[in-house]
Amino acid sequence: MSIFLDRRSIRKYKKDVKIDKNTLNEMIEVAMRAPSSMNLQPTRLVVLESNEAKEKIRPILFGNQLQLDTASHFIVIFTDLNKYDKADKIFKSAFDLGIIPKEVMDSQLSRISEIKKTVPETKVLHDGILDGGLFAMQFMLVAREYGYDTCPIGGFNRSLINEALNIDKHLHPVLILSVGKSDESGYQSYRLPLSDTVIYK
Ligand SMILES: Cc1cc2nc3c(=O)[nH]c(=O)nc-3n(C[C@H](O)[C@H](O)[C@H](O)COP(=O)(O)O)c2cc1C
Repeated sequence: MSIFLDRRSIRKYKKDVKIDKNTLNEMIEVAMRAPSSMNLQPTRLVVLESNEAKEKIRPILFGNQLQLDTASHFIVIFTDLNKYDKADKIFKSAFDLGIIPKEVMDSQLSRISEIKKTVPETKVLHDGILDGGLFAMQFMLVAREYGYDTCPIGGFNRSLINEALNIDKHLHPVLILSVGKSDESGYQSYRLPLSDTVIYK
């Protein structure tokens, strides 16, 4: 339970602790086990590792400089508005690996090709932001399992981040996560009681 109950947003990290790439990739792979709408996995990450890369987003952050100055990595989460392009790869790989039978692959692919013809862009965006949020939460908990901490960062200029990082517009920004070795205890934060947040019917 402590993975969940003791998580806090951490904004100051030990500057000298760099998470090695293999470990970070392992954490990302586990977090990518998060569910996504129709398993289309639209979440894409731009991982800022070098100081040079981090400096590119400094001007477009609203506050959040301490995380930028101290975190091991900044993970910029995007959602791919062209997510349907990977449907064949996802369902054919699942079939080749024996995860799904041919009938499931065929029915999923034909369903997706129908949906793709009429789906509004707003739904793709909405679902993508949800999927990206689920990845983000899972990553924050996986990071704790590995002994690291995180801060979700929504305080950045969404209309400028693609240009700052030279990322095509078919990737839509969702959220940034800072990750690293904590160098503070963070703040306790209040949660509303269930009487404000839950309705049983
Ligand atoms: C979508 C989202 C955006 C956030 N943006 C920022 C941010 O820009 N800067 C920051 O310091 N914290 C940010 N936070 C962290 C929240 O302030 C924090 O989660 C909340 O106060 C609860 O504290 P806790 O995470 O320690 O439990 C964000 C959290 C979420 C979920």
